[in-house]
Amino acid sequence: MRPLIIIGNWKMNGSLATNQDWVKTVARGMESGMPAGRQFVVCPPFPYLAQCSVLIKEYSLAFLSLGAQDASAHESGAYTGEVAASMLKEMGCTYVIVGHSERRQFHHEVDEVVAAKALQVLDNGMTPVICVGETADERNSGRAEEVVCSQVAKQVNVLQDRLVDCLIAYEPVWAIGTGKVASAQVAQDMHCTIRLQLAEFNDDVASHVGILYGGSVKPDNAVELFAMPDIDGGLVGGASLNPQDFLAICQA
Ligand code: 13P
Repeated sequence: MRPLIIIGNWKMNGSLATNQDWVKTVARGMESGMPAGRQFVVCPPFPYLAQCSVLIKEYSLAFLSLGAQDASAHESGAYTGEVAASMLKEMGCTYVIVGHSERRQFHHEVDEVVAAKALQVLDNGMTPVICVGETADERNSGRAEEVVCSQVAKQVNVLQDRLVDCLIAYEPVWAIGTGKVASAQVAQDMHCTIRLQLAEFNDDVASHVGILYGGSVKPDNAVELFAMPDIDGGLVGGASLNPQDFLAICQA
């Protein structure tokens, strides 16, 4: 049985003061217990990882893990502005998002780079959350499955059996930050396609890998999405900034 995993991706948001309030509110909300068999993760911007790691310990938030939004494809060296996976591990991260569509779009990251980042994350004992997803044009021209399967295939080629220790996040680009959530059935169909594709490679990988949905997940659509057999949780952007909304999604 795959656990339900809810990951909050704060993107480039937060401040020392608002982060403190967020952790305090979430700690209070989680005090009375959380549904069993679930994992919760928060991914603040790099400069706040240390602060959030300390806060999570201070509030004894055993339910909440720390994640990062990206990692370098390189181990160490002259890569100004980049952050190595080993550094994220040292800061207490256990999950790292790689290949987010905003990285692919604004930083021209291609599948080979995404796979190299995933390998760095795995080599440092953390879980890569590999993002895939089609644009509105690609969906409207009937190419959604082809595009997503090609992104997944490139990861399979490089990561092979190590995919068993990864998560995949299906994030249709047209649903990110737009309020246009994929219907639960549209999301389920793509998740099922991805799982069948993984099964062609290795049944064990297909049955173990969690496939999360991301794109305008909110408290009022989370229940329906998470009820789908191949949706193993959510990668939540905007709604994760509000601690009450994040809690409501975690409890959905
Ligand atoms: P929103 O939830 O704001 O649509 O963002 C989704 C996302 O990109 C999470 O990584």
